[in-house]
Amino acid sequence: MNAIKTSGLDHTYADGTIALSGVDFEADTGEKVAVLGPNGSGKTTLFYHFNGLIRPTGGEIKVFGEDICEKNIDEVRRRVGIVFQYPDSQLFAPTVFEDIAFGPKNLGLAHQDIKERVSYVMQRFDIEGLARKNPANLSEGQKKKAAIAGVVAMEPDVLVLDEPTSGLDAAGVTDTMEILDELNGEGKTIIISTHDSDLAAAWADRVYILNKGKVIRSGHPRHIFADERLVSDAGLKYPVVIQTFREFHARGISKGEVPLSVLDFMDSVGMEVMSIRCAIAGCDISAGDEVCLEMNDGMLVAGKDPSGVAGKAVFGGRKGEDIAVKDVSGDLHALAGSITVIRVPGVMEGGSRAVNLEKVSSIINGQVQKIGAMGTSAKVLMNRTGLKCDFEFDVIQSGILAALRGFNVTIFASGGMADRAIEKVKERKIKFSCFEL
Ligand SMILES: Nc1ncnc2c1ncn2[C@@H]1O[C@H](COP(=O)(O)OP(=O)(O)OP(=O)(O)O)[C@@H](O)[C@H]1O
Ligand SMILES: [Mg+2]
Repeated sequence: MNAIKTSGLDHTYADGTIALSGVDFEADTGEKVAVLGPNGSGKTTLFYHFNGLIRPTGGEIKVFGEDICEKNIDEVRRRVGIVFQYPDSQLFAPTVFEDIAFGPKNLGLAHQDIKERVSYVMQRFDIEGLARKNPANLSEGQKKKAAIAGVVAMEPDVLVLDEPTSGLDAAGVTDTMEILDELNGEGKTIIISTHDSDLAAAWADRVYILNKGKVIRSGHPRHIFADERLVSDAGLKYPVVIQTFREFHARGISKGEVPLSVLDFMDSVGMEVMSIRCAIAGCDISAGDEVCLEMNDGMLVAGKDPSGVAGKAVFGGRKGEDIAVKDVSGDLHALAGSITVIRVPGVMEGGSRAVNLEKVSSIINGQVQKIGAMGTSAKVLMNRTGLKCDFEFDVIQSGILAALRGFNVTIFASGGMADRAIEKVKERKIKFSCFEL
């Protein structure tokens, strides 16, 4: 079912500016949609239509199958929450707490329910420390988080976020996208606008490209970004991973569909053409020596011990130098490490407070080389245990890549995030186990 659908939507502002012209847009229930387009292309104007902030001057918009009218406008605003591009247009209460509580209050919730909801979203966004601050005194990134938290607190079915990551630091971007993923996992439809093609390519189920008020293309990011001309005509930047793929593809090293992540890219590299490998010499090696390849500290190392995958040195080198190895027989995948997913109770189930720390150390027991934490509960748990976290961003992909480089990886995650991690890891030939805390 369509959560939002526009047909031939036009919007001309009072001063005669044609901001949208014949826009057909749809977002299905539970979909993640990204709208890309240069400045002034009409993204914000389009989003304002989604909960009736402005009305079309032509064409139509339907929200969950219904036209927006006076009778249902309150219901539409309850179901479709908008986070504005500039948080200053959203934050107005004297404290962050009251700001986030404003929406739930308006929904007529009881005092205790409001308090619980606000505390929950503040925990989720890791902004509990800002509760008593005046929003006007927050940093730009903090304002952005508070504005998003305020809309999340209303628990709408559709979250519309106008450039949610602009002004956020790298951790803020990842946290925000992770929360949006989590909300999407709970069934919510998420629509964002962004100038970040890398982010849109990796995140969205469907991408729209707007230019001068018109949709110039929509579809799966793989199809959108496969069209070089389209991307440059729309004034967009190419995702780095796709740019790299193009260069590898042109030289006959990569094959297949356009990759949307580093992991996809690694899969595109035709291993069969890589019969010669570069490796670090683990000891002095001469041309023609029989060697064995192993993963050591994340690098392919050639040594003389008869373990690992066999090959023959094309040219040699002293210990520590790069050498080339041919006739690599056997599966380099066998050199991969393992992944362990540890389920942490979510915030609603008591979070890290509900965890017995001894159990964590008994599972970890010295085998782990890399640790990743996804979501608030897992990150709080890391602080409590004093364990050092190697990946806090893009944890699933980083974990799989590290395992492919021979590391034993443990990923702490809660709820839907743990399920997603397990699903992704199982798609790979990697040793895998799972524990519950
Ligand atoms: N209230 C308004 N009155 C007149 N023109 C407007 C108004 N708001 C926006 N516009 C114009 O409508 C067009 C689309 O603007 P909009 O803000 O929707 O673009 P955008 O894609 O969100 O841009 P950005 O990436 O800069 O946020 C622009 O030409 C803008 O000048
Ligand atoms: Mg805008």
